[in-house]
Amino acid sequence: MNDLNAIVESAQVAFAQAVTPADLENAKALFLGKSGRITELMKGMAALSVDEKKSRGAAINLAKQAIEAALTARRQALADAELQAQLRAEALDVTLPGRQRGQGGLHPVSLTMERIEAIFGSMGFDVAQGPEIESDWFNFTALNTPEDHPARSMHDTFYVEGGSETAPNLLRTHTSPMQIRYAVQHVKKYSSKANGGEGHGLFSGDMPEIRVIAPGRTYRVDSDATHSPMFHQCEGLWVGENVSFKDLKFVFTDFCRTFFESDDLVLRFRPSFFPFTEPSAEIDIQFQSGPLAGRWLEVAGSGQVHPNVIRNMGLDPEKYIGFAFGMGPDRLTMLRYGVNDLRLFFDGDVRFLSQFQ
Ligand code: DAH
Repeated sequence: MNDLNAIVESAQVAFAQAVTPADLENAKALFLGKSGRITELMKGMAALSVDEKKSRGAAINLAKQAIEAALTARRQALADAELQAQLRAEALDVTLPGRQRGQGGLHPVSLTMERIEAIFGSMGFDVAQGPEIESDWFNFTALNTPEDHPARSMHDTFYVEGGSETAPNLLRTHTSPMQIRYAVQHVKKYSSKANGGEGHGLFSGDMPEIRVIAPGRTYRVDSDATHSPMFHQCEGLWVGENVSFKDLKFVFTDFCRTFFESDDLVLRFRPSFFPFTEPSAEIDIQFQSGPLAGRWLEVAGSGQVHPNVIRNMGLDPEKYIGFAFGMGPDRLTMLRYGVNDLRLFFDGDVRFLSQFQ
């Protein structure tokens, strides 16, 4: 019996030393294989008597079962260890913060546009959008700037192929064409009612005032620290039967003070020239405190709408009068946030843009 115990023990040791399934199969062969120790013992029984065979056979079987049990236990242990190792290798730390989805935000110029729309909206101004590819008619001619007018050279215009005087042939150099587009629609709406759809001539019936702003992109051949070939403008137009320069002053002063959140702000209307207004003025603002205090800063062009422009809107200039202005939201954004290079707004650098959120 001792020899059998010794064999079982050495099988247990061999199995325990096996660290991979292959090691374990090799160790198994040493005991249970074709010429393994147990098999050899079975073969040796041939010479024994029947009684001896019985008892010896039973003892060998017990030893064999003990070895098989040790083998199964070790197989299970190795499989468990392998599973644990795999789990450890693939461990997920569910407490780690997830990969962040970047939070988008509005561009600083868009923030300014929204502000402008909200402020003028509260004063009863409509907001209109129009095409960026314009015709000569809306961009220049209807605005009292005929073909050979020297004022056309004030704008370095991008022309596009095709088009004609009335078909789109250029990138609008300002938002002023929206004065005509919006007013014509407005007049059409009320003149058809007043005139019963009859007759031409200039409308002089009853019509609610035209009060609109038109923000959007504009284009000029120009590029430096304060000019970009694409830039923004916001047009303003107020036309009625009794709209004066005084109203322009009031509206624009109120706008600037609200926009910059400062009552400590003065405005100057400096005489100027634009073909579509007469008289015309540049609007300068001056902060009385803060980093920009004491400097006159130009923020808009403005004026009383020229009678020819009123006429091109389809209105009788003897009855209708008003003012217009065109301002630069890019410049307003620079002043509000203290940015001194316009190009930063259009480079698309998130490190810069995210500062405005
Ligand atoms: N359109 C002019 C420009 O781009 C700005 C301007 C001046 C607009 C006077 C106006 C205005 O409406 O009345 O330089």
